Amino acid sequence: MITKNQATELLHEHTKNQNLRRHMYAVGFAMRALADRLGGDGEMWETLGLLHDADWEETKDTPNEHTKHTLDWLRKMGEIDGPIVHALMSHNRKHTGLAELEGNMEWALETVDELTGFIVAVALMRPDKKLATVELSSIMKKWKNKAFAAAVDRNQIAQCEEKLGIPLDEFIRLTLQVMQENHETLGL
Ligand SMILES: [Fe+2]
Ligand SMILES: [Fe+2]
Repeated sequence: MITKNQATELLHEHTKNQNLRRHMYAVGFAMRALADRLGGDGEMWETLGLLHDADWEETKDTPNEHTKHTLDWLRKMGEIDGPIVHALMSHNRKHTGLAELEGNMEWALETVDELTGFIVAVALMRPDKKLATVELSSIMKKWKNKAFAAAVDRNQIAQCEEKLGIPLDEFIRLTLQVMQENHETLGL
């Protein structure tokens, strides 16, 4: 099974944009926290977070290729099946049709992916542009304002309730907290 360190190396090799790297760090931290909450394998869930958009720089103009490049890199490392491979296949299922979402780890990625970006957007509205002063209440206020970060699909995130059994406010609080704890790595 690919390790977190190997995933980080792949990410750095193929993703030069700092903000994009930080997106994957944030999703990695959130995935580890969700694994702790749900009894998953924290190392594996974080590894998936680090890898889920690792080929985005190369595939952003060809969405049906997204995750296929990463799957190729893993194949060359001898990683041909297993939970990470399946999760990468299902992550871009709308374009690739490679696999449907299965299990808590894949639903965690599906629901937390855009939430991390939403929380970054809220932090950037603060005068100091820092995560430290962001409160759950300010996120919930922006959540209800459909014009704010309009591209973020609230329904996709809110599936945390049905698919993971975690109430939305707890899901957001947990993600905010782990992002605040790692604010230096996230540059916020
Ligand atoms: Fe993606
Ligand atoms: Fe993502």
